[in-house]
Amino acid sequence: MLKTRFTTAFDVSAPIMQGGMQWIGNAELAAAVSNAGGLGTITALTFPTPAALAEQVKICRDLTDKPFAVNLTTLPSIDPPPYEEYQAVIVDLGVPVVETSGSNPAVFVQSYHDAGVKVVHKATSVRHALKAERAGADAVAMIGFEAAGHPGELDVPLFVLLAAAARRISVPLLAAGGIANGAGLAAALALGAEGVLMATRFMATAEAPIHQRVKEELVARDELQTDLVFRQLRNTARVSKNSVSQEVVSILDAGGEFADVRELVAGRRGRTVYETGDLEAGIWWAGLSQALIDDIPTCAALVERMVREAEETITTVLAPETT
Ligand SMILES: Cc1cc2nc3c(=O)[nH]c(=O)nc-3n(C[C@H](O)[C@H](O)[C@H](O)COP(=O)(O)O)c2cc1C
Repeated sequence: MLKTRFTTAFDVSAPIMQGGMQWIGNAELAAAVSNAGGLGTITALTFPTPAALAEQVKICRDLTDKPFAVNLTTLPSIDPPPYEEYQAVIVDLGVPVVETSGSNPAVFVQSYHDAGVKVVHKATSVRHALKAERAGADAVAMIGFEAAGHPGELDVPLFVLLAAAARRISVPLLAAGGIANGAGLAAALALGAEGVLMATRFMATAEAPIHQRVKEELVARDELQTDLVFRQLRNTARVSKNSVSQEVVSILDAGGEFADVRELVAGRRGRTVYETGDLEAGIWWAGLSQALIDDIPTCAALVERMVREAEETITTVLAPETT
């Protein structure tokens, strides 16, 4: 078994967390990852109301007696969701772990800790990781440039970002962005992480609540088939390359503003991709790690295989017998 400070502190048997996934991270997927020995995550804003999130937490508790997380992404927005009410659900229901992302978790950490909720904060720079550690985060996930979702504006790939963070951060680090197999897990541990956080890889699992065609597309795709959208707006997002992402990039490159692409990037269109398997219906998220995905296993098979491959890598490559 791969035992690290992360597995001990978060009471999981495998050092693998499933990151927040808008429209995908439901109770069933989170429970499947947690039952596999990892740390599964329900994505709060996928659910239209705080009450709907509370229902998901209850379903997850029915499906697993293992720890699980809720992701609450707080981004600056013209019309923000009621973040405090979602946060209250996490606190009131004593969710074991919260994954925070988007902005500094400082304002929320104390109330989480008072309720016994552990905090994993996602950071795209060493500076932000230090801030999260000072704010009291129990672990920090370093998000490399390879990642799906918001990899930040600094473009530091995980190999350097993680090792640089490991020199300065004392709480357990998770490595995220571009990891999809046991070799990636072993590499992350070698570079100073105490676990990995993955999202794209978990999209291509039996339990992910998305259309089979999307999963098969992830198996087929390579590392060149993503786009960075919203660069010009300093809100970069890595998404799957398709006709919609290409149109968004060209409109913004030509000097367009958010209003010019609002309809193209609408969340409901992305959701349609996952629900119907129409890969051109809207923007959908995927990271460079799609290049490393070869199959659609159950979460249990994936977690078991990754841990076994990482252990083999550590014993045969990183610590070969000398006799
Ligand atoms: C479909 C999808 C949806 C995502 N939605 C969110 C989200 O709502 N909030 C968040 O903090 N991160 C989100 N992410 C980012 C992941 O949690 C994670 O940080 C990142 O994908 C890790 O890189 P990987 O995809 O290479 O494993 C999403 C990623 C994917 C693939």
